[in-house]
Amino acid sequence: MAVSTETLPARCRHRFPIFGQRIYINSCAQGALSDAVRGAYEQYLRDWDEYGAPWEYWVDRGEAARASFAALIGAAPDEVAVTTSESAGVASLASGLRFARRSKVVLTDWEFPTIGQIWHAQEARGARVLHVPAAEDGTMPIEHFERVIDDDTLLVAITHVCYRNGAMSDVRAAVDLAHERGAFVLLDAYQSIGSLPVDVKELDVDFLGAGVLKYLLGSAGLGFFYCRRGLVEKVWPTATGWFADKNIFEMDHTDYSPATTASRFQSGTPPIPAIYAGIAGMELMKEIGIAETREHVLELNAHLIDGLDELEAKLVTPREPGRRGALICVKSKDVRALVAALEDDGIVTSERDSNLRISAHAYNGMEDVDAVLESLRRHRELLA
Ligand SMILES: Cc1ncc(COP(=O)(O)O)c(C=O)c1O
Repeated sequence: MAVSTETLPARCRHRFPIFGQRIYINSCAQGALSDAVRGAYEQYLRDWDEYGAPWEYWVDRGEAARASFAALIGAAPDEVAVTTSESAGVASLASGLRFARRSKVVLTDWEFPTIGQIWHAQEARGARVLHVPAAEDGTMPIEHFERVIDDDTLLVAITHVCYRNGAMSDVRAAVDLAHERGAFVLLDAYQSIGSLPVDVKELDVDFLGAGVLKYLLGSAGLGFFYCRRGLVEKVWPTATGWFADKNIFEMDHTDYSPATTASRFQSGTPPIPAIYAGIAGMELMKEIGIAETREHVLELNAHLIDGLDELEAKLVTPREPGRRGALICVKSKDVRALVAALEDDGIVTSERDSNLRISAHAYNGMEDVDAVLESLRRHRELLA
């Protein structure tokens, strides 16, 4: 699929007003606001104004969001829970597991804090949590998984693309090993979803969590949780709420009968405003093209890495295109000062650890990468 780096931003950049003010290259933190998402929020307010409490329609919007996300990851809608964050879905899963027969949960050291914190919280319920360390060269070799995954392992949590260094996990290798040893796999796809194609059947993961506020162009307040169909009824969430019930509108407070679908990982009232926005963001991203965006961003990042090499900057992200997501990380001596210096030059980026994070998306062009490189050249003393 040949996508010119000119045509993709030309097709969609005008829909993101921020580019009239500044260069936005920070989608690993938050996607830029589009006219579609703004329009969706305005529509929510109009509907509220006009109809008062159109709950049937709002519940139907939740179903539309579920179907849209399911289609994105190659799942069926009944395998997807609509949540208020990725954490909410993962916490619901954790609350429903028992650690009696198998007690170990294995996590990589690339996990987002929420994943580590949720599983460590289960230590109070009998879980033993072990970490898979990264290698010196910044990779997460399969041998490191081999050392900790055994027949006492209940679940292995891996992240698709690391939020701190942009490295992409070899999901299939970890999944095959975990399954061979009888463990489930949870994939955190927050840093990959919307930036590259994600297919749960191809990756063969059992559970997946994500949200819409980064490369899916939605806003805070909406997450999704996928559970492989055959596993749904094996998990009995104890962190729950009425939108997880088998029959929500029965309004039965005398019993707990969770849904027989992945809705059992839901909780209370769905985040309707964020659902309007999330649908708009996901649909816009599908219209722009996620596979095309992946190709486009790989081209931009090849140019970015060449420029960083010329500056003799320390790249933290793997060089090999297949081993990284959309995010490129560069070591800095004073990363807060560097982000502020870029901001003064009209460029929005972010930081984690001591790394500057530069994350291009469909709306960014070569001129944005050149502007970043030019600014970094001016602030060379802040690079490590
Ligand atoms: C990899 C990753 N996982 C999870 C999250 C956040 O998840 P939640 O929706 O629970 O806030 C983020 C957000 O920054 C992330 O980058």
